[in-house]
This record gives sequence, structure tokens and C-alpha cells, in this order.
Amino acid sequence: MFRRSFATSIFALSLALTSAHISAQQMAVDAEGHAWWQHAVFYELYPRSFADSNNDGIGDLNGITSRLDYLKDLGVDAIWITPCFPSPQVDFGYDVSDYQNIDPMYGNLQDFDRLVAEGRKRGIHIVLDFVINHTSDQHKWFLDSKSSRTSAHRDWYIWRDGKGPDLPPNNWVSTFGLSAWKFDPLTRQYYYHYFYPEQPDLNWRNPAVEQAMFDVTRFWYKRGVVGFRLDAVDSLFEDPKLTDNPVVPGTDNFGRPNMDEKYNQKLPEVHDVLRGLRKVADEYDAVLIGETYTSTIGELKQYYGERSSELQMPMDMMFATVDKLSAPDFRQQISAINSAGGWPVLLIGNHDMARSYNRYGDGVHNDAIAKLMAALYLTLRGTPILYYGEEIGMENNDPKSKEDVRDPIGKLGWPLEKGRDGERTPMQWNVSANAGFSMARPWLPVPPSAETHNVESELRDPGSVLNFYKRLLFLRHHEESLLDGEYIPLNENSPGVLCYLRRYKNEAVLVVLNMSGSLQKFDVDLAPYGLAGANRSTLLTDMTGELQTGGKEMSIEPFAVYIAKLTK
Ligand code: GLC
Ligand code: CA
Repeated sequence: MFRRSFATSIFALSLALTSAHISAQQMAVDAEGHAWWQHAVFYELYPRSFADSNNDGIGDLNGITSRLDYLKDLGVDAIWITPCFPSPQVDFGYDVSDYQNIDPMYGNLQDFDRLVAEGRKRGIHIVLDFVINHTSDQHKWFLDSKSSRTSAHRDWYIWRDGKGPDLPPNNWVSTFGLSAWKFDPLTRQYYYHYFYPEQPDLNWRNPAVEQAMFDVTRFWYKRGVVGFRLDAVDSLFEDPKLTDNPVVPGTDNFGRPNMDEKYNQKLPEVHDVLRGLRKVADEYDAVLIGETYTSTIGELKQYYGERSSELQMPMDMMFATVDKLSAPDFRQQISAINSAGGWPVLLIGNHDMARSYNRYGDGVHNDAIAKLMAALYLTLRGTPILYYGEEIGMENNDPKSKEDVRDPIGKLGWPLEKGRDGERTPMQWNVSANAGFSMARPWLPVPPSAETHNVESELRDPGSVLNFYKRLLFLRHHEESLLDGEYIPLNENSPGVLCYLRRYKNEAVLVVLNMSGSLQKFDVDLAPYGLAGANRSTLLTDMTGELQTGGKEMSIEPFAVYIAKLTK
């Protein structure tokens, strides 16, 4: 799935689920039985754009290895690398033509092994991206599948007759524009693709597919990978009767009528596959992260599975897509996820959505707002996933004209849909040519703001976004309350200030976030939480003055962050 906007599945089953709990295999690291990934900070990294070691304009694995010290210093415990397997790169790696190798443009298996080993030395785990819904049309399975109606792999994909001459089997559409069916003249049938035509969907109803894909995970676990981010899990199954999807009001970014994708998204069979993948993961103490675009907390709950038998880390995309700086909106979303019973997984950006710097920024106070957003999701209960460059306030850099677009959906949907190039530009390391990413012209252009927003310059500036992230991540790793404390919302009616406690035993961390552009007064009553009269010491703030305290009332500057420790 990409960009939530026109996915309208309302397949909301309200199953009564027992709350998720931690299974024995999950390598407990503390007395409360938390697993390592519950205390870890994850970092999503787009390998094409992180660091280019051989100066061909495209990032690579050796580039990543060369930057592990930076990640360690930042406070990262695990990196999720978006697909780096052999691929024709139609969808920049999300079209995999061989699951058990590395694309030569990124290096080779030896480079990968070295990355794992160097990561291990620094306590940085490697998570790979597993594209399970589809393969590339150049994968040997598909090449065989399309070769004849009786080929060994025919039933590994979804082939159907058309409804009539030039008529696809039904009305399903690809989320990347056009129909979801492509006619193949050789065997005179259509194959199904929820994404690009070059990404035929696998047939997960075929046990051979399941077996082959499960074995892929074993291959990488044995090489030292600690888990996977599972791509597009919502799309694994389709209604075998191919029932047409209902058309609903409105149009999507490609100008097509919206559809309720109830017959090809989030079918219940998805959960059988996730349970299977989890069983294999448990053999290796591995963690599964899911790209789970849910529309309700009930749906998200299902992805944890009964007794935590599915994904340990389904992403809360509802939190990630709160698209305005609004205390009430975030408050509501945070309460919802905390009621879900599982361990929250929080992020504010990824390679499919415009950078958070621009989505939340007002164009004037963007750095302050970037810090505010960081303070939000890095002090909440759960595991955060940073998106590379977010920590330096990288901005979105959309293509300026259709000719410049690299992402095919941008070419098809221009100008309404500009594609995802803007959020995938090279990491900004310093002020040298191409922001220090490469000596060659990078595959996507670096924005002018790289002059000020880059790692080297920001490390020198105590007030930078980067140094703010570093301090936050330090607190996150060292304050018990931030690691394990319960979430207690305060002042729940405040329209501008988001305020909460993370309470752990006899102490707590107080977080006050002014999401408005004006000075806000507020007071907090800590008595109900057994913290009346607690000592308060500031842990982190970006306010120019100290927090003004007159009696119980305090005031906090526009877009400011105030984090304090309370001890009894
Ligand atoms: C996921 C990925 C996205 C990709 C799509 C198809 O949504 O995050 O980048 O295009 O799946 O694999
Ligand atoms: Ca390179």
C-alpha cells in the first residue's frame, strides 16, 4: 500500500481479541520481560539515497557500513533497509527479481555480511524489507509462470480469463493507476497486479508459494538479519470469486472513481500467513514489522494477532498520517493506540509520504516544529522508527517538472500526483558537492536547504534539529519512565498543548508540547497520580526562557518542548 489517501477498505471486523502478550521466545532484556526491540530505536534507510561509496550517484551497502558510527552516535539500535535485492528497479527495489541476493548496484552478499558484522560490533541490528505481495515480472518464477498455461509456476500468480474481448476479469484497479489486470497475449489470460504491471501479485493460496517465501526468511535469518519489515501485507489475498469492488464517492489522485477495496484488501486469510511467518521468525528470535495501513484501532489490533501470534510491530499508520499539528488529533490517536493492547510502533515519515518537515511545518517555524514532532513520538510509549534525514530536518524536494520525475506514479499522475521522489533525495552529510552523498551526480537532486541542514553543520550547532534528536534519543535510552512508563494524558481539553506523563514506579517524565503558534498558559495537577509535591528537574527544552511558573500555572512558548523529570 502507499499513501493512504485512496485506500478505502472498510473491512472492519470487530473480533474480540485477547490483549497481546510477550511470547517466551522474544529475548527478554529486562525484569518486566520486554524484548530488545521494545527498547530499541529503529531507523529506516533508503539505500539508494544514504551514502554512495563508489561514486556512481546511487547509494550502496558499503556506504551504509561507512556511516554506522554516525548512526550509533545518533542513538540508533536497528536499521531497516528498504529492498536492496536484485531488481529491475521499476519501483526502486520493491520489484524483486531474486530474494536471495543483493543487487549489484548496492554491492554483494559479502558486503552485506560485512554490514551485519560491523553493525553487530556497534550493537546495530539489521532488518530487511520483505516484499511478499508480489515479485518483479522478471523474477524466474513469473517468467516460467507466463510461459504457458501449464508451466510449473503458472499457479504461483493470479491468472484469469477476461470477461469478454478486451474486458478484464473485474473492476479492480491498481493503487498505482490503471487497471489491476494486464493481458498477456502469449497465453491469452490476464494477470493481477495491485501495484505496477511489472509487479505481478503472488498467489498466496498456493502452498508452494508460502513454502518458498518462508524459506527466503530463513535464508536471511541465517545470515544474521534480526527481522523483516513486511511490505504491503494488506494486499496479500483477493476474493477468489473476483467480486467487483463497490464504487464510492469522490475520485483519487489519478482522477478515477474511488473504490471500497473490500474484495482485494485485508482479507482474513492474511492473518494465516502472518501467523506462519511468525512461527518461522520465532525459530530465530526474529521480529516482524508490518506495513499495516489500518483505518481503525480494531483492525490494527488484529495485526498483533491473538496472544501476539502475528506481528510484534505493526506500524500505526493512523498516527503517522495525522496530517496537521493538532493536540486534540494526536491525543486521540495516542489514546487509541495505547488501548490496543499491543506495543505501539510510531513513526512520522517514510519513503511513501511527504517528509514530516513539510507536512507539519508552517514554512516559518519548521525547525522548531521538527523538534516538537521529534519530542512527540520519541517520548511516547512504544518503539519509534525514524526515517533517514528526519533527524537533520531534511525537507521534501518534489520534482519541478514532469520530465524530472523518476517515480512512475508521478509520471502517470502529474501534476496532482507528483510521486515519491521528494521524500527520497540523498542524505545530506555536509556542505560539499551533492551534500557529501556522492562525488557523482546523485540519482535525485539535493535541495538548496542542504547548505544549512546537513550532518556536519548541525553537529557543530547546539541548537540544531540533529542535536535535539540526539538529546532526545539519549533520554529515551536512559530514562526508565520513557522506556517502560505508562502513558497518562494530562489536560485533555487543551486545544493547543499536548501534555502527558510517562510514569514508572515512583518517578515520571512530564512532557509538554505546545502545538500552537502562540504562548500558552496551562497548569497540571499531579496529585491524582501520586506525584503532588514531586521534585521537578528539566531534562530537555528548546525554550529561550525557563518555564514560567507562577503558582501552579506555567506558560510555554509557541511550538516549544518542555520535558522534565518528576521524582518523589
Ligand atoms: C509498499 C512500499 C512502497 C511500494 C509498494 C509496492 O507500500 O512501501 O514503496 O511502492 O509497497 O511494493
Ligand atoms: Ca554507489
